[in-house]
Amino acid sequence: MNQTSTAQQILTVQQHILQEQKRFPGASGEFSWLLSGITLATKLIQAKVRRAGLTDIIGEQGEVNVQGEVQQKLDVYSNDVLAHCLSVRESIGVLASEENENPIIVHKGSENAKYAVIFDPLDGSSNIDVGVSVGTTFSIMKRPEDAALNDPEKWILQPGSAQVAAGYVVYGSSTILVYSVGNGVHGFTLDPAVGAFMLSHPNIKMPKQGKYYSVNEAYRDTFPEQYGRYIDSLRRGDLGKPYASRYIGSMVADVHRTLLKGGVFLYPETKSNPDGKLRLLYEANPIAFLVEQAGGQALDGTGRILDIQPDSVHQRTPIILGSPTEMEAYQSICSQQC
Ligand code: AHG
Ligand code: MN
Ligand code: MN
Repeated sequence: MNQTSTAQQILTVQQHILQEQKRFPGASGEFSWLLSGITLATKLIQAKVRRAGLTDIIGEQGEVNVQGEVQQKLDVYSNDVLAHCLSVRESIGVLASEENENPIIVHKGSENAKYAVIFDPLDGSSNIDVGVSVGTTFSIMKRPEDAALNDPEKWILQPGSAQVAAGYVVYGSSTILVYSVGNGVHGFTLDPAVGAFMLSHPNIKMPKQGKYYSVNEAYRDTFPEQYGRYIDSLRRGDLGKPYASRYIGSMVADVHRTLLKGGVFLYPETKSNPDGKLRLLYEANPIAFLVEQAGGQALDGTGRILDIQPDSVHQRTPIILGSPTEMEAYQSICSQQC
């Protein structure tokens, strides 16, 4: 009988997490139990996303969230499912979500509560009712030694470099979970027949260079100067051949493509979003963690995203992320311009 090579090894995300968590001395299975809360929740979310047109889940919930955005029903459902699946994991003490104004304390006073999970339950929600890919992002922080059980902000307002794990699920033509615990980036595709995320993209490394740039060009005239110069240089072919443009409008989908194919994704500050549109804690940080683990770079325009010291849960940041060649080119333009 031919032996399956390790490359074809059938590995579920649960098995992978168990292997990975050996890197966390004293983790005693709590970490894999925590992450299983995320995999369960995202399976439930994807089942709803796949049927969004069929059940009464599509369309607006009518309420406006803390971001001032009209909540889509699937946003609310996804938020509730994640909150439920995670709050029953005793190792989790605090949850923070794009959809909730304040972080939620979910430990019952247990000293075992070590982790905070910060998430965007449904990223790209404006794309739900047109059948375009959406996603979920998550960032896991460990409670700082000096953080009191009843001081949830202290648990989460840490620089992205303090993340112990981060990841996303993209609900696209297939459902793919991509995560890292700081030991490389690994992707798992949901096999609907089995209901398990199976290892499909071991140790993702960004190509040195891609062929796409990804930005909402409608706002180009209000970007800071260096971005226009940068986009023109990509179009002109200064990095070899002229770039093509791809923009889905769901950050998780645009980032997933950039992670696998290389290239650059950017959402700079604009007139309507002078601090940038994307949120630091649950969009920029988890993505920046993965991009760096995969060999790329993620900046806020001048500095490293993961170095930013947050001062509020929903604070926004400009972001430009991509593969080495494109990021070097941006920084050389910026050295004359920023
Ligand atoms: P969310 O749906 O969680 O609010 O996030 C939407 C974000 C992000 O997914 C995407 O990159 C960006 O909004 C698109 O913004 P524009 O429509 O302004 O391009
Ligand atoms: Mn989002
Ligand atoms: Mn969202």
